[in-house]
Amino acid sequence: MVVSLASGSPIFTSTTTSSSPPHFSPSPRLSCRLHSQKRKLFKNPLRVAAPPSTPTTSTSEEDQEKEDPLIETEDFEEKFSWRDHWYPVSLVEDLDPRYPTPFQLLNRDLVLWFDNSASQWVAFDDKCPHRLAPLSEGRIDENGHLQCSYHGWSFDGCGSCTRIPQAASEGLEARAVKSPRACATRFPTMVSQGLLFVWPDENGWERAQATKPPMLPDDFEKPEFSSVTIQRDLYYGYDTLMENVSDPSHIDFAHHKVTGRRDRAKPLPFKMESSGPWGFAGANNSNPKICAKFVAPCYYMNKIEIDTKLPVVGDQKWVIWICSFNVPMAPGKTRSIVCSARNFFQFTMPGPAWWQVVPRWHEHWTSNKVYDGDMIVLQGQEKMFLSQSKDGSGDVNK
Ligand code: FES
Ligand SMILES: [Fe+2]
Repeated sequence: MVVSLASGSPIFTSTTTSSSPPHFSPSPRLSCRLHSQKRKLFKNPLRVAAPPSTPTTSTSEEDQEKEDPLIETEDFEEKFSWRDHWYPVSLVEDLDPRYPTPFQLLNRDLVLWFDNSASQWVAFDDKCPHRLAPLSEGRIDENGHLQCSYHGWSFDGCGSCTRIPQAASEGLEARAVKSPRACATRFPTMVSQGLLFVWPDENGWERAQATKPPMLPDDFEKPEFSSVTIQRDLYYGYDTLMENVSDPSHIDFAHHKVTGRRDRAKPLPFKMESSGPWGFAGANNSNPKICAKFVAPCYYMNKIEIDTKLPVVGDQKWVIWICSFNVPMAPGKTRSIVCSARNFFQFTMPGPAWWQVVPRWHEHWTSNKVYDGDMIVLQGQEKMFLSQSKDGSGDVNK
């Protein structure tokens, strides 16, 4: 069954990728205190500026890059900065706008919450500027602001402190509310195709504005395609998961009788067509044809095309897209977000159309079996890698 080649990812089948264009959340520079300017900003949502009211950790971009341990290569042209990218942090449909949600990105604790007054998702450092309590333990207060659960300070969507309940209404204490030191640290955010993206550098507003997020293929928007999405947090590292999703040869074994069959294992030639600091792309040359593309740091796309012949309708070209985002949360912790679409058997898929009667959870039932099939072997593999690297026994790959 040819489809088995394609189905190593957790899902291969619906959903709600919105067709609206990417929406960029405005910079906190235009703080909520500057109402009229904020209105102008919404007319031009791609305009972003650095936030003056939030604490900064470096004096200039240059200093920051010199100190950045995540820039791995010496060649300026080739250098790769992990912070200079949009990362999808969640499917919007899986976020609850009534509550703050904790998340980790590149080992940094964030809180995601919905600012109703600006109708946008916001990401802050998950620490209150007062006594560093996690803001994700807070609540959305009566004014629609994020309120810390420790002493009740509140913050608007720009990060500005709007209320200190214990402060006197006059004098020094009243001024404390307006202090830059009372602001939450805010990161650039954007919603695109049903995904919430975060730019993990609070000083990177201009670079964020100039950078497009990774996009799902146009087929996701076509009526003949049905799609489904899933996200799950996995307790193994980003590198382990990235290797796993780019390795179709495990499918017939690790996912035996789920999406593969042991007796169908065969050679899987793959020809690399291009590569660089951006990632790589390649394909095989048989039926089904599988084109794969990795876009650093965390996007892996598979397009599977199957030529088949059906009674009555004749020749058909079936297409399946499996697009995975492997989001590095922290060492040993990764969020997998998978968006999949196909142009056949749409009736068996969940989705928004009236005839798509299969619920989303039904698709997740199979998808989670796929995640579970990988989990036991990947955690075991990672345990060996870790213990050998701690031994100092050299390159664990040798
Ligand atoms: S720690 Fe948040 S209000 Fe005190
Ligand atoms: Fe797998």
